[in-house]
Amino acid sequence: MKSTLQQIRPDDQSSLISWYHDNHRDLPWRRTQDPYKIWISEVMLQQTTVVTVLPYYERFLKAFPNIKKLAQAPLEKVLELWSGLGYYSRARNLHKAAQALHQNGGFPQTATELEQLPGFGPYTSRAVATFAFQEKVGVLDGNVIRVLCRRYGLSVQHWIPKEKQVLQKIADDLAQVKTPDILNQALMELGATLCTPQNPSCLLCPWVSRCQARQSSTIALLPLKKPRATFETWVWQPQVAIQKGKVALVQNPDLPFLKGQWVFPGPIQKMKSKPARFDVKHGITKYDIYIQVRKKKSLSSQDVKWVPLDQVKKINPTSLIQKILEHSQK
Ligand code: ADE
Repeated sequence: MKSTLQQIRPDDQSSLISWYHDNHRDLPWRRTQDPYKIWISEVMLQQTTVVTVLPYYERFLKAFPNIKKLAQAPLEKVLELWSGLGYYSRARNLHKAAQALHQNGGFPQTATELEQLPGFGPYTSRAVATFAFQEKVGVLDGNVIRVLCRRYGLSVQHWIPKEKQVLQKIADDLAQVKTPDILNQALMELGATLCTPQNPSCLLCPWVSRCQARQSSTIALLPLKKPRATFETWVWQPQVAIQKGKVALVQNPDLPFLKGQWVFPGPIQKMKSKPARFDVKHGITKYDIYIQVRKKKSLSSQDVKWVPLDQVKKINPTSLIQKILEHSQK
């Protein structure tokens, strides 16, 4: 690991906090100390932008205003309100964790205890602990990683846990202030609004004159980029059988994606290159999926469930399933 560890300057925190006071966006989860609401926002904000999250956040909290309501809701209803946000395992884990929290009688107040709950990784646990309970722990997300790597000139491979610890230590050290929640929000805000991946607005940054990456002209090189996962090409031939307004779905027996979810039956194969002909193309994480839709009149001997067409979105809200259904009804 190549890094020249820079010391935190005593006024790093105060200059950042004062910038935040003057410049931050007014976001609903910044106006509450309710651990439940903060938790929901943080899970939604993983892999999804603030602008996309806002309407979902309001709707979700209206339907499930507290742990109990979420814990007692049917999973289908939770997935329905999540529909469009993607990464549906987040919604499933949220539901499961709400049941555990409800049984335990609420939220524990430290990151260490929160981490024992299902679906609470280090990021979510630390975010809830600091934003709801003012615990002095650093919260590392992509934005914060970028800010820290640049400010302290760190060429760390942050996707490797051992190397990430270097950043976690700095984030934790920075959080040793009277208002760790504000400090953590400020780091996120700096990364989201000024210290952006491309064309950062350095001249507006409270750390401009002390930024190591700026001094060594390495802003474009930091943070280091994780080598891209190699993509896999798959060809899937979903059998879409519609009878009397119902469509046949099976609980995903073979697809390497959408595990455990209700999908169309049909063979899938990993290929070396993309097929000459396909009806729909879709990408999920590292999977490039080429779909050749097979319309069927009936289906034999499969473990299928016949689902009314207007209910499919409830059972499986993913855009892949919607796309295939739309194609087959053309
Ligand atoms: N992204 C993740 N957490 C966030 C937060 N609390 N505020 C703004 N953006 C975020």
